[in-house]
Formats: sequence, C-alpha cells, structure tokens
Amino acid sequence: MDSVFIDVNQKKSQISRHIYGHFAEHLGRCIYGGFWVGKDSPIANKNGYRLDVLEAFKEVDIPNLRWPGGCFADEYHWKDGIGPKENRKRMINTHWGGVVEDNSFGTHEFMGLCEELGCKPYICGNVGSGTVQEMSEWVEYITFSGESPMSKLRTQNGHADAWKLDFFGVGNENWGCGGNMRAEYYADLYRRYQTYVRQYGEDKIFKIAGGPNVDDYHWTEVLMREAARFMDGLSLHYYTFEHDWDHKGKALSFNEDDWYSTMKNAYRMEELVRRHDEIMTKYDPEKRISLVVDEWGCWHQVEPGTNPGFLYQQNTVRDALVAGITLNIFNNHSDRVKNANIAQAVNVLQSLVLTEGDKMVKTPTWHVFKMYKKHMDATLLNSTVSSSGCGKDNLFVPGLSVSASVAGNDEYTVTLANPDLEKSKTVVVNFANLGKKLTAVSGEVLAGEKMTSCNTFDNPNEVAAKKLQAKIQDDNTVVIEMPARSVASFTAC
Ligand code: AHR
Repeated sequence: MDSVFIDVNQKKSQISRHIYGHFAEHLGRCIYGGFWVGKDSPIANKNGYRLDVLEAFKEVDIPNLRWPGGCFADEYHWKDGIGPKENRKRMINTHWGGVVEDNSFGTHEFMGLCEELGCKPYICGNVGSGTVQEMSEWVEYITFSGESPMSKLRTQNGHADAWKLDFFGVGNENWGCGGNMRAEYYADLYRRYQTYVRQYGEDKIFKIAGGPNVDDYHWTEVLMREAARFMDGLSLHYYTFEHDWDHKGKALSFNEDDWYSTMKNAYRMEELVRRHDEIMTKYDPEKRISLVVDEWGCWHQVEPGTNPGFLYQQNTVRDALVAGITLNIFNNHSDRVKNANIAQAVNVLQSLVLTEGDKMVKTPTWHVFKMYKKHMDATLLNSTVSSSGCGKDNLFVPGLSVSASVAGNDEYTVTLANPDLEKSKTVVVNFANLGKKLTAVSGEVLAGEKMTSCNTFDNPNEVAAKKLQAKIQDDNTVVIEMPARSVASFTAC
C-alpha cells in the first residue's frame, strides 16, 4: 500500500501561480491558427483571437504568457510588428519551417491577447541579433506613459496608454540559438542590456537572465557570480525526451520501456532544480532570485506528414504523467522555482490544446493543469511519500509523485501521479496535527484506457478527468483509489 504523510504544521514556501505559466512562440501554428486567426476569419474570434482557445486558457487560470520565443526571440525585431498591417514586413521565419512571417501579430496583438486572457505578459527580448537600443526602445514603447519618441509612436499606432509589462527576459538560450555565447561573455552582455531595461513609473519589471541548458552548472555559477544582483530570475530549459535529443520517440506509438524511460527523464527535473538551486543559494541565500523554468515539457517526433519545423505533436496519458510529475517537483521547490512555462501553449510540443481549422481539442495535459490549479498561490506543505517503485532495471522510477498545499487555513489540496503501467493503487494520505476533523473531500482523476490514449478531433473526450474515489477515514486520513498510469488531485477540508 502506498502512503503519504503530511504534517500541516510544516508550512513551507508559497507556490507562486507563475509556476503554471505558458509559452507562445512564432513557431508552426502556435500563434497563427492557434491563438490568432485575424478579425476576418470565419473561425469564431474576438478581435482576431480564437474564442475557443481563449476560453480553454481562461479555464486553467493562465497566470502569464511568454512571447515571442524561444529561438525566434533572438531574431525578432519588434518594430517589424507594429503600425498598419499592410506596411508590416513580410519575412522568412528562418528558424521554424522557413514559412512567411507577415508580422500581423506583434506587440499590440500580444498585449491585447494577455488582456483577453487576464494574464501577465512575459516578453523575451533580442540579445543575439538585436541592439541595446532596440531592446531599450521596446520597453519604452510598451511601458512609458510620459512624452517620448516611443510613447508617441505607440499613440500613433492607436494605444495612448502605456501597458504594464510584468516579466522581461534578456535573450533566450544564449548558449545556443541565441548567439552561441560563452557564459562569461553572456554574463557581461546581460549586465549591459538589462541596464537599459528601464523602470518607468512604479511598476517593477521582473528581469530574467538567460540561464543554463539542462545540467550546465558552469553557466549557472558564472551568471550568479557575475550578475546576480542585476537579475530577478535565471531561466532553465529542460525538455523530456523519450530517450534523449537524438532519440526522440513517437508521440502516439511507444512501448513499456519507452514509457519508463520518459518517466525517468521527467523525474530528472528534481535533480536539475536541486543542483541549480544549490549553486544559486551560494550567491543568493535569501532565495530572492527565481529559477525560471521557462521551457519544459515533452519533445517527441513531429506527427507524420506535418512540417518538421512546426514541432506539431499529439499528446497522450504519458504526457499527462510528465506534466503531473513535473508540476509536483516545481511545487515542492517553490522556494526557488517561482516561474515556469510549459512549451508550448497551442499546436507545438506539449500543448494544452490542439487546433485544426475551426476545431479544437483539450489534451490530457490541459486536464492536469486544471486539476492542479488550486495550488496556485497556496502554501506548500511538507509531504513524505512511501511507495514501491515501478519499471525495471535502469528504468526503475518512484511509484508515486506528490505535492500538497493549504489555502486559507484549512483547505488542503494534494496532487498525485502514479506512473505504474500495471498497478492501480490505494493511497492513504494522512494529515498530522490537523487540530480538527476532516469533513469533506472531493477530487478528480485522469487515466487512459491505454498508455497511448489521447484526445482527437473526432474523439475529443477520450481522456478526461473523472470523479476520484476518495473517502475520509479516522477523521484525519483520506484514502483514494488511483488507477494505473493516472494523475489525481483532491481537496479536503
Ligand atoms: O520550444 C522550442 C524551442 O526549444 C525554443 O524556440 C528554444 O528556446 C528551445 O530550444
């Protein structure tokens, strides 16, 4: 029997809602055909934004959206995407699929999208191929409310009021597509560029430095040593492959070893966060600086017949397990991980929704985000898990992943992922030091009939959250039934 012990007196960090952030790059059909169809589209839209996609992200309470990349960010010149549409530059998206980018979605459209979604904007600036002046003027254009050349230009383009810009990334993957730099060189560039990300008015811009790739601990060491005092966040990118970068698997067809290998790679996030945190703590013991995991998720082979540069992949119960495990890791490290963005929101990599013409489906990953949303801004509780592992030999992984939180004084939320392909589990969750009796529990569980179960445009509800079997026992214990390969969440009070 698997069990979880939660001492409600052991309150830890606040789980920032920004752990549940999303990412929309000018890549494949994420922006065009995903969020944005344009005002004249026959697809139901509000001012050009797809209504079904807006609704889906509002349902999961999207806290922030990262844009315009990714690798696209370090090739993006923001002035190409403002002003009358007919005058905007048509260019090639060299990084992603070699298609025409007509710049019809630019700064105004992105800020409008965040307003529609009710989320905070996270813009990533161009260090790789852009100038300090260009970055500085973008921030002025967006946020300056007084008289200046950029605020005048914004007003001419129809938006007299300044916007609030919450998060700003100074480049993306500057060790790779963002300029192939060494950590030492980028650290100096970061110091220089961020100087001109000016703070106009009262609203603080949270500045995020381009961080390491996976386990590049040297990068973290150098950035923290040289630039910690100039940053609010340091990014980390880690994707879950079936095996590794050179051996990506198929999204819909895999065997049991592929499943466990994917789970093992998902659990690796724990070690990465812990080790980067250790280095950051040397320079920032107060944990002021956030480890911003602004690209994470499953990266499979593209669906057959689709543009290889569009990174379009389906999404199964396996992806849901990866999301459940990863979000539990972030919650449990919420003293350091205060922001994260799954890649990517629509039609790219591990998406929450997929679209085809006027149709949209919610993926199993969407359900996980919905099931976890009660953790947002709640207080993390220490949880100790006792479970036998699953898988075999070098593909042996923990049999249960858990995180727990309390909102207000007495609403306890627990999320669990069971990666075991065979075993359903009775899980006993014991709350110590409650000081009262539990009187109500309710929850949801997401499981598939097969490990490859997914939602399609013809069968959009094949994998959906269902009522969780949960009961209160002995006043302070909740007993739940988890099917094999499932994600569950419950709230008790
Ligand atoms: O998310 C797809 C790509 O993966 C991003 O553009 C890049 O930052 C990363 O390598």
